[in-house]
Formats: sequence, structure tokens, C-alpha cells
Amino acid sequence: MEKKLSIETRINHSDYVPPAGFRSYAEPMYRGSTVLFKNLKELRERSWMSREGYSYGLHGTPTTFTLEAQLAEIEGGNHTLLTPSGLSAISVVDLGLLKTGDDVLIPDDAYRPNQDMGHWLASQFGISVRFYDPMVGAGIANLIQENTKLIWTEVPGSITMEVPDLPAISQVAHEKGVLVALDNTWSAGLVYDGFAHGADIIVHALTKYQGGSSDLLMGAVIVREKALFERIGLAYQRLGIGVNADDVARVLRSLPTMKLRFEHSGASSLVVADWLQTRPEIDRILHPAYPDCTGHEFFKRDFTGTGGLFSFLFKEQYTGEQIDRFIESLELFGLGFSWGGTHSLAVPYAISNKRIGWHFPHRHVVRLYIGMEDTKDLIADLEQALQKL
Ligand SMILES: Cc1ncc(COP(=O)(O)O)c(C=O)c1O
Repeated sequence: MEKKLSIETRINHSDYVPPAGFRSYAEPMYRGSTVLFKNLKELRERSWMSREGYSYGLHGTPTTFTLEAQLAEIEGGNHTLLTPSGLSAISVVDLGLLKTGDDVLIPDDAYRPNQDMGHWLASQFGISVRFYDPMVGAGIANLIQENTKLIWTEVPGSITMEVPDLPAISQVAHEKGVLVALDNTWSAGLVYDGFAHGADIIVHALTKYQGGSSDLLMGAVIVREKALFERIGLAYQRLGIGVNADDVARVLRSLPTMKLRFEHSGASSLVVADWLQTRPEIDRILHPAYPDCTGHEFFKRDFTGTGGLFSFLFKEQYTGEQIDRFIESLELFGLGFSWGGTHSLAVPYAISNKRIGWHFPHRHVVRLYIGMEDTKDLIADLEQALQKL
């Protein structure tokens, strides 16, 4: 570029090209809304759905394509869409696959905002939404109607942790031509093979273990079939949802240590749960790896390891007020939503008396996420809080 251009122009049009051949373990990070084309032919032939090239920042950069490929690799899928949160991964699946007059089935222990999305689909879009007992198994056959297009599953369910028989649900669904979507966030895709157990679509809240530090929000939809990718992808493109390059780079940085963090969290959760089980105040541990947890037999059959998120129930004599006091007395456990980071968290939940398939007398559930702290310190914290009951 000729030096007669003014400084304002020159600093905007630098012609410096760094030398080729730089290698590092860190993934390079590309930011960009505008994507530059070499010529008009390239501009006119761009395709917003293609992963073979670039068209616009919203539709992908080398950074987002790299994370998409790594997530597909973990799940054994072929196509990934990155969304701004786990919840948007759920809603884009609904919007891509359902239309007015269709019917969708959602388990009654699904992540609450997934259920809320169902209510919204029913009230605003004329889609029939029905909630089912997560332990229905092959009995899902009795719920499938002519217009049923999608069955949501979550393994295990949020808060109450039931482990459903996904292979049984999927087999019946596929015989009847119905798609199965799985929220596989609990396992991070590491210890539960969603596609092998029959899911057609897998969603993740990358906000959890993939992000790993409670400092970002992101989600993913992963599929094997190109046709499904295109159907969900159209809704994704039309909604204009994309992800922030800095957050994608953070997830790429966390991913190599995810398995170690996940295993540590899972192993520590068993130590804490084992201790809780010995306490006279506690009725049962709702941890998929524990026999007391509904669907434990499917956990034993289908999982290859455990995550660190679980719940427990106090004995019936303890009131909601006492349980709140226990929670507020915790000093190391943070009080807040989400999980999968380095810090342990505790949240109390009240189970609605409309909940389908809840067989326990107590309706006050405490959910714990076990982070990276020493379990001795976490147990001491739980012990001092139990004394305040
Ligand atoms: C099972 C499950 N799915 C989805 C989500 C939604 O993720 P996000 O918070 O990124 O929207 C969560 C969040 O807690 C979750 O627990």
C-alpha cells in the first residue's frame, strides 16, 4: 500500500502479513462479523449453511467450526450448532422441528425452562405439549399420537435425577417415526453415549463442564443426520443466534481438561454422598450411582462413569423452613444456579404436587454440585450446617 495514504487510512488497512508456520497448542481465535471475499464470484457463491467456507461471522469462523468439530467428536455426531446458552439449544430444536398442529412429549422432570418452553409452544404456537412420567420406558407407545413429532428426554432428569430407559423410549419412538431429543448435559457426553442409546438429537449446556469456570453461557445441538442438521439449522439461521468468539475460545481452552474435572467432580460427589447417607437426618440420596435413585438399574446398564451433580431428601420430619436454614448455614457451598464449574453449589427445590411419577413422601429436595474443593472441607461444612437444622 502506498505511503501517500493518510495515517487514519493506513492503520485501517494494514498490509502486514505475519509469517506462516506458527505452531502452538493454543487454538487461534478468530473474531469477525464481516467476512472478506476474494472476489464477487466467491461472494455470490457463499452458503450460510456450509461448513466448507465462510459467509458471515454469525454463520461461523475457524474458531466456532473448531469447537463444533470437537463437540461432535465427543458425542460421535457429525454436525454441531453452537447456541448462546443451553436453553437456546433446546428452543432451537423445538422451533426447527415443530409446527402448529404437531405434538411434543416432555418428561415431567425435564429442566424447568424446557417445560416452560413447552407451555409457550402450546399457548402461542398451537403445538400440543404433554408431560410424561420419565420412567415410562416402552410405555411411551401409549402416549404417541399421529401428530407426535418429537420426544424430549433428559438422562438423568433435572433435580430429581430419575434415569430413564432411553433405549426403550427410542425404540418405540423410531418404530412410530418420532424423533428423540436428549439433553445430555449431566454426563457432558463423556459417560453416556446418547446416540448409541437411541437419541437423534443431543443438546448440551456448555455453560457447565465444557465452560468449566462458571464464567460463560453456551449451548450446542449435535446430530448425526444431515437432513436434521439442515432442519434445525434453518431455524438457527433465521433466529440469528450465534456465539461470541471470546467465549468459544474459553470453551476450547477448557475442553482438554474437561474429562479430568468431570471425573474429579464425580468421584468427590460419591464421597460426599456416602457421608450424607450415614447421617440420621437424611432419608435418601438421589444420585444416579445410588440404588435409592429411581432408574439406578439403567444407570448401571448404560453409563460408564458418574458426574458430580446429585440431590438428596431429608427425613419427612424436617420442614422446608429447617431445610432452608441448613442451606443458608452452608459456608463453602455457594447458593446459586448452574453447575459444572470449580465451586460447589447447593440449591433447595420444592417438588410440585402435580409432578408426574414422584413417589417419595418428602417434596423438599436439596441439589448439590460438587466442585474441586477437598471433600473433607465440604463434609465439614455440611456437618456444621446440619447442626443448625
Ligand atoms: C440439564 C440442563 N439443561 C439445560 C440447561 C440450560 O443451560 P443454560 O444455563 O446454559 O441455558 C441447564 C442449566 O442449568 C441444565 O441443568
